[in-house]
Amino acid sequence: MNIATLKAMPSLDSIMSDIERYGIARNAVELMTYGFTVVSPANLGVTDTWGERLRNAAVAAYESRNDVPIDFRTSTITAAFHDPFFDEDDVFIEAATNPAKLALVRLMLGQGAVHRNNLLILKGPTADAAADDSAVFHNLPLHIDEFVEGIPMGAGHICHRLNCTWICTDVVDEADGPTLLVPASQHYGHGVLPHDTDVTKSRYPLVRVKAQAGSVAIWQGGTFHSTLPRTRPGLRIHLNENHTRPYVQGRNASSYIPNSPRLSPELLDRHPELKRVLGLSEVEMFPGPERGEDGITRVPGDPTTDPYA
Ligand SMILES: [Fe+2]
Repeated sequence: MNIATLKAMPSLDSIMSDIERYGIARNAVELMTYGFTVVSPANLGVTDTWGERLRNAAVAAYESRNDVPIDFRTSTITAAFHDPFFDEDDVFIEAATNPAKLALVRLMLGQGAVHRNNLLILKGPTADAAADDSAVFHNLPLHIDEFVEGIPMGAGHICHRLNCTWICTDVVDEADGPTLLVPASQHYGHGVLPHDTDVTKSRYPLVRVKAQAGSVAIWQGGTFHSTLPRTRPGLRIHLNENHTRPYVQGRNASSYIPNSPRLSPELLDRHPELKRVLGLSEVEMFPGPERGEDGITRVPGDPTTDPYA
C-alpha cells in the first residue's frame, strides 16, 4: 500500500513524491528522528561550481558592506549579518528555492512554511577573533533556535522553526569550527537547561557536522546545538536560512525578510517560488482537497484538518 497514491492528502502526497524523486528518504527520517540531517550536493542537484558561486557571493556580500577585499582562504575576520541578499546575486534565490531542500522544509513545517531570514556567518580563526558581538560564534552555548523566536518547547513536539544552513566551505574536522548537535534532543520537550549550556562539559551525546561545500545542514528548532572554536586558517562560511510555520511572529520578527524594504515587486514577480517561500503569495499556492477519497470534507488549506497545509 502506497498511501501517497491514494491522493487523500495532496499537501503531504507531493512532499512524499519529492522525497522519492530526490532520493532524500534517509534525510527525511534523520530530520524527524535525530532532529537534524546533512543533504549532499548530489541530492540537492547542485555542482561544485554552484557551491563556489554561493561561496563567492557570500564573500562579495561582506566585501560590499565593508569596502574591503578578503580571501576566504587566509582571512582572519569573523562577521555575521542578516539581509535578504536576493537582489545581490541570483545564487541566493536558487538556494532559497532549491526543491529538494524545500521538500524537507515542508515535511517539517507544512506547505505554508515561510523563509523568515538569512544570516550569513563568516567565521575566521578563534585566536584572531575580535572582542565584539561576532565572538559569540566562536564559543556558542548549547541552545535551541526556537528560543530565538521566543517559542517555548512543549510536550507537543511540533516543529515550529527549521534552520537550513548552506555549507559554503568544506567542513572536514574539528579545526573547521563545526556545528555540534545533540541527536534526538528535539524530543526532550524542553530547551537547554542553564547548567547544561557548556558544550565542553556536555552530558549529552554530540554529533559534529561534516560536510562538503554545497551541502545543506538542516536542524529542527528544538534540536540542541552549539559550535566549536575554529583553529584552521581562513573562513568557515555558512548561510543560515531560517524558516518557521506561517503563524509564527517571533521576537526577532524585525529581521524577517518581508519587513525589509529592499525586495522589489519586480524581483518577486520574476521568482514566484521565492515569493511563495517568503509567504508573500496572494493566491493560495497549495489548496487542500474539498473532499478526500475517504469521503471526509476538508476546508482547503486549513491546518486544523491538514497538518501539512
Ligand atoms: Fe542556533
